[in-house]
Order: sequence, then structure tokens, then C-alpha cells
Amino acid sequence: MLALLAAGFLLPPAAAATETSVVCPVDPLPVTSAQTDALFALAAGRLYAASDISGLKPPGVKFPFGATARQTQYMRSDVYGWTAGFYPAELWLMYERTADPAWLALARTWTRSLLPVAKWTGSHDLGFMIGLPAGLGMRLDPDPAQRITYRRAIIDAAKSLSSRWNNKVKAIKSGEYDGKWGLIIDSAMNAPMLIEAGDMIGGTEGALLRTRGQQHLLTLAKYFVRSDGSTFHRLTFNPRTGALTGPVYGQGYNMATSTWARGQAWAMYGFAKGYAVTGNPALLAAANRTNAFWNQQVDPGCVPAWDLAVSSAFAPRDSSAAAIAAAAMLLLADLDPGGSSDNRQLALTTLGTLTSSEWTSVNTQSPGLLIKQTWNVPILKYEGSYVWGDAYLLESALKVSETTKR
Ligand code: GLY
Repeated sequence: MLALLAAGFLLPPAAAATETSVVCPVDPLPVTSAQTDALFALAAGRLYAASDISGLKPPGVKFPFGATARQTQYMRSDVYGWTAGFYPAELWLMYERTADPAWLALARTWTRSLLPVAKWTGSHDLGFMIGLPAGLGMRLDPDPAQRITYRRAIIDAAKSLSSRWNNKVKAIKSGEYDGKWGLIIDSAMNAPMLIEAGDMIGGTEGALLRTRGQQHLLTLAKYFVRSDGSTFHRLTFNPRTGALTGPVYGQGYNMATSTWARGQAWAMYGFAKGYAVTGNPALLAAANRTNAFWNQQVDPGCVPAWDLAVSSAFAPRDSSAAAIAAAAMLLLADLDPGGSSDNRQLALTTLGTLTSSEWTSVNTQSPGLLIKQTWNVPILKYEGSYVWGDAYLLESALKVSETTKR
């Protein structure tokens, strides 16, 4: 932490508690169809350039992860990386946008190389890794036989996550943090897959998956969402009693008092998705509370620093948090059209910023799309372009592109 203070982009907690660091355009405007067209044109070139897997046959396929601003080639992860599903998801979104069989072929190839991971019980991130790309494949692949393969993978992945269930904490274990049984707010994005898989298989086994997915989200809502709607990033529990043992450091500034920007966006999206697949009003309330906190801290069209309590204008941004928040707001606008904020308009304005040439890679050598994202500032302070921010930016741009034509 001292190193971060010395690097000059953290302020002492007293200042951080009352100020918010965002950067905003002079005149934030909603996204236009010209901007979404430009984004997809950029994506076509960048994603195709990253798609060559000749000589990298499974299991050696390396999945794009991200690149700092100085890198012109992707750092890549193996199939077990938590980010492995985002690049295949981007390929599916390109297919949805274009209906071009070349994107379908690429999306299938990259998704199929991931599917064996569905039976792996070593990660809580199978919702990102399998649920996202296989879910897109189930919706978009015209071949019923392929769709069955994706469906099977989603069910396998949900069972793998379910094997990490703890009946005292009433949650799926995220990992060991400081050597203790831990949960992470990001897992809100993985739990909805259990509910979807439960609906697919039905019966007693399906009901168990549904119950566990929903209860995991309720446990997160109970412990992670503070009274003002902000969120913790990582909490640990006693797995024998279920008792909360406290926050631990993760990717945010202060484990107890600050709010990691991307964690807040994961919470908004995860709770909204949880409500979409359960209809449980407690999950809608959690989505609305976390969304309200975001909107208090981040004005329309603005992009936050990596942690919402960090108030230096020189702090690294996390534009991926803004992209995920915009995707969450679009979902909330559909689910709760009478909600207290105009989520659709807020999302359109955020996307207006993120698809402008200041925030995309159009004038850079980056292999990705959305620049000024951060991965894990306490480990790597440099901004860059990462596949998760790109995937949610494309998802949102695709969703709004039909309605922004003028
Ligand atoms: N799930 C890890 C992250 O968002 O960085």
C-alpha cells in the first residue's frame, strides 16, 4: 500500500471518503449509430487479428487476456484462466451483429476449445468461462447439435460450481483469501448460471442448482452490500459455523471502507441477472441499491478511477467498470422500467463516452477495443485494454445499436 501512495495516485482515506474521482467529457452525449458502427468496424479488425490458433491446438490454445497501453500484442491465458470465455463471447457478438458465417466458425472453434473446462471444480469463475460463451452459443448457433453441446457444458459447469457449496455460509466458495474460506463480489456474475442450468434440467437436481444459485446471490446481498449501496470486494467466513470473519484485501484500495469500481459493476449486473432468472424482489432491491450508489459516485457519461474512493485525477481509470455498469443498467432498464433512475439514458450516455475515439483503441496500436481499463491496480497500475471490458462494451453496443439508428 505504501508503494501505491508513493506512486502518487492514492489519497489518504480522510479525503477519499468525501470525494470521487471521475473523468467526464465536457458535454456527455448519448451514443449514436455512427459510434456503434465505428466500434464494430474496429472490433472486426482487432478480433480477427487475434483469432489465429494454427499451431496452438488444444490444450495449448492461448486465450486473449489483455494488453497494457505499451503492448501491441495480447498477453494470453490458458484455458483455465478466468478470462478465457470473453474472447469467444466477443466472437459470438460479432456473429450476432453480422450474421457472417466466418464469425460463426471462429466463435464455434474458440468456444469448443473451452468446453472441457466445464467439469473442472477448481474455479468459481465458470459462469464467465463457460456460461457466457456457451450461453451465447445456445442462443445464436443455428445448428441444434452444437446447441446441445453448449447446453451440456452449462449444466456440467453449474454442477462443478455446486460442488463448491458450503451449507453453513450458504454460498459457493470463491477461493482461499489470506488462507481463509472466502467469497468475492465478482461471483455474483457466476451464480445465475446455476439457476439457468437448474431450469434446463428440472427435477430434484435442477431444483438444488436453482436453490444454491439464488441463495449464493442472497448471501452476497446480505454481507457485501453496505447500507449506502457500496460493496466490499472480498470477505472471509468460518466454513464450520458460517460466521463472517472479516474483509480481506483484494483489488480495491481499502478492504473495509472503499469500493473497487469493477466490483460494484459486477454486483449491479450479477444481482440484476439474478432477478431476471428468479423474479426474487430481494435481488432487484440489491441491484437497485448498488446501481444507485454507482450513479451517486459516477455522473452520466463519466468514467471512474479503479476504486470509487480514490480521488486523484491522476489515478488509473477503469473503463471496464463503466462498460459493465452500462450493460447492467441496460438490463435493469428492461427488468424494472419504472425504476427510480432512467437507467437506459444513463447507459446510453456512458456508451457515448466509451465509444468515442478518446476511449477506444482506434488511434492506438492496442490489440483490444476499450482503452484505459485496469486489471488489478495493486499488482499492475498501468491502464490497458482487457477482454472483459471489451466483451461488455460490445454486448451493450449491440443491444442499443438497433434503437440508436437515426
Ligand atoms: N474477476 C476478477 C476481476 O474482475 O478482475
